[in-house]
Amino acid sequence: MGKIRAAITGIHAWVPEYRLTNFELSRMVDTSDEWIMQRVGIKERRILKGEGLGTSELGVNAVKGLLEKTGTSPAEVELLICATITPDMMFPATANIISDKAGIKNAFSFDLSAACSGFLFALQTGAAYIESGLCRKVVIVGADKMSSITDYTDRTTCPLFGDGAGAVLLEPTEEEVGIMDHILNVDGSGCRYLHMKAGGSARPASHETVEAREHFVYQEGQAVFKFAVSSMADVAAEIMVRNNLKPEDIAYLVPHQANLRIIDATGRRMGLPPEKVMVNIENYGNTTAATIPLCLWDYEKKLKKGDILILAAFGGGFTWGSIYLKWAYDPQ
Ligand code: UT7
Repeated sequence: MGKIRAAITGIHAWVPEYRLTNFELSRMVDTSDEWIMQRVGIKERRILKGEGLGTSELGVNAVKGLLEKTGTSPAEVELLICATITPDMMFPATANIISDKAGIKNAFSFDLSAACSGFLFALQTGAAYIESGLCRKVVIVGADKMSSITDYTDRTTCPLFGDGAGAVLLEPTEEEVGIMDHILNVDGSGCRYLHMKAGGSARPASHETVEAREHFVYQEGQAVFKFAVSSMADVAAEIMVRNNLKPEDIAYLVPHQANLRIIDATGRRMGLPPEKVMVNIENYGNTTAATIPLCLWDYEKKLKKGDILILAAFGGGFTWGSIYLKWAYDPQ
């Protein structure tokens, strides 16, 4: 028997209808389309509107579509992992709520918190359950309702984020496709540059924390930018070198979509021409755990069986990493 690998055998994503444009933002804070396009590369982001709708609403739409598209019965799913930093509630896990709403009754599920690298961390965790033979059908969801923790009076952060979700099905294969290698890193000392100050056990919600606007993303942009540019490019280059991959071997870089300048720098470092770098930041902004599956979903029809993809991300924590995979199916 050959080595069992975990392969992505289906992808689906979901974004809400409402488009928050740069023009609308420029009427809320002192910013402009020109600044946002030049410094970040975002035109619009999707926002989930509706009382009581949280990240599970995004996630369940992605998961239901995935199950339908892949002809998978909810009863067959054995594990669902939801990467998110914007859970519906502190507890229970949003993964459990998604499973319930999608009719997934025979699975265990849990949330995974690794911010913008969340999808990579969850994908590798799910892959380990497949490779070990413990599970045969695993759903990985990356979902974030970033609008719920974005301060729309702060021009340094409010243009950056959007809402969205993507989900993939992981199944075992003995063919030469699927997840081939991974590098995942954390550096907890990076917490001071990118975090949410209140609402956790260290600083529970109070009148004071609400008045001080501490329930929103706090980011020291320039510091995070410096770490992101070097870490994402380094880790993507490292996974190429250790797998003896040349730029011409790679079909696509699938980068986390936080800033077009970070994406471009990573592609350049890997020696890739722009057409080999997946980019959709213009349409969705930074959807945190959802950016990578949203890219795969947008480009799915261009992907062929055996295509080599390098996934790379950097985010709060700090967390960063890269996954090398061979795409497992032709366009349908
Ligand atoms: O996904 C998780 C990881 N996060 C990231 O990877 C984000 C990393 N950081 C970044 O992408 C960038 O640092 C930002 C996009 C957040 C900011 O871009 P920047 O080029 O680093 O801008 P800056 O913070 O250095 O600000 C430059 C200027 C400042 O004005 P002064 O001091 O030069 O007069 C800001 O006040 O731009 C000003 N500015 C704005 N102007 C118009 C900041 N935000 C805005 C805005 N509109 N929205």
